[in-house]
Amino acid sequence: MKAIYCPKYGPVKNLEIKDVSKPVPKANEVLINVKCSAVNDYDWSMVRGKPNLYRLLFGLFKPKRAIPGMELSGVVESLGEEVTKFQIGDAVYGDISNYGFGSFAEYIAIHENAIVRKPEYLSFEESAALSHAANLAWQGLVDLGKIEDGMNILINGAGGGVGSIGLQIAKTYNCQVTGVDTGDKLEVMKEIGFDHIIDYKKEDFTKGNNTYDLILDAKSTRAPKAYVKVLNPNGRYVTVGGDIGRLLQVVFAQYILRKPVYMLPLDANKDLEQIQGLCKSGKIKPLIDGPYPLEKTPWAIQYFGEGKHKGKVIIAVS
Ligand SMILES: NC(=O)c1ccc[n+]([C@@H]2O[C@H](COP(=O)([O-])OP(=O)(O)OC[C@H]3O[C@@H](n4cnc5c(N)ncnc54)[C@H](OP(=O)(O)O)[C@@H]3O)[C@@H](O)[C@H]2O)c1
Repeated sequence: MKAIYCPKYGPVKNLEIKDVSKPVPKANEVLINVKCSAVNDYDWSMVRGKPNLYRLLFGLFKPKRAIPGMELSGVVESLGEEVTKFQIGDAVYGDISNYGFGSFAEYIAIHENAIVRKPEYLSFEESAALSHAANLAWQGLVDLGKIEDGMNILINGAGGGVGSIGLQIAKTYNCQVTGVDTGDKLEVMKEIGFDHIIDYKKEDFTKGNNTYDLILDAKSTRAPKAYVKVLNPNGRYVTVGGDIGRLLQVVFAQYILRKPVYMLPLDANKDLEQIQGLCKSGKIKPLIDGPYPLEKTPWAIQYFGEGKHKGKVIIAVS
């Protein structure tokens, strides 16, 4: 089978498209014929081995698992003998990062708990775009953010996967939503319905006069106290990702300084049922950049890393 192979950490040009043997599922695994995958921050970090701290997760000197990719949609082709949740032919999707990586390949064998059944009303492209970013956005806004009807919300790093779905979730609560990002993404953000848009290269929202009931952050570029300054009384700041030093500051401020700032530890795939429901009723739809063929994955990871993407970058694998 064809797979994107990362032999060592370094520039994206190290990636090879390679013929490797098709995996055989263990007792509790399913073999999936991957239809689509999506590019995520994990792929950009894993390929380069940066930030260095991530090597504790990916492998100290070279990637433990040489095939990147952590989101997928596809069809179950065979089953390990202890699998109970799926049958051959089931269409499935999910964020597999709790169980491993390797979805930039025509086949993957993965634990049955890593995936859920794909409903017919979601295409393979849409479902591959949904599991990671939509769960981050949902858990950030709903679980930790305690979103309520009519809130004034700001999303920082709003032009990517989390921002584009986060906007749509916030709109189901009739919220006013400001999005912060830069470049070509600002035009797309206008089109998909952000009420206000801030170009972070021209304006620092933490120094403005506007205040917010909830800030959802996919980038975390500032110290927590800067965000607290632009929160309304009872307002909350929730980060889903970004600079590791800043994330540690958020944890510190949450537990030690007792500020209303929170860092989300993602519970992969937890809220897919609710999110699917919103897709079915037409209230949310993933913003897709692509799909690009498997051969273009190295280019797509670089494109993602340089922040040129709008929404979720989708790879059509097979
Ligand atoms: N909480 C968890 O358990 C968990 C688990 C896995 C991943 N994550 C994290 O969750 C996040 C996922 O977000 P995503 O998929 O939406 O990422 P994304 O698609 O990369 O979107 C982030 C956006 O932020 C923009 N940006 C860069 N610098 C900025 C700044 N200073 N101010 C405002 N915006 C800025 C980026 O633009 P440019 O690219 O042009 O700079 C990009 O458009 C990642 O940070 C990831 O590491 C969290």
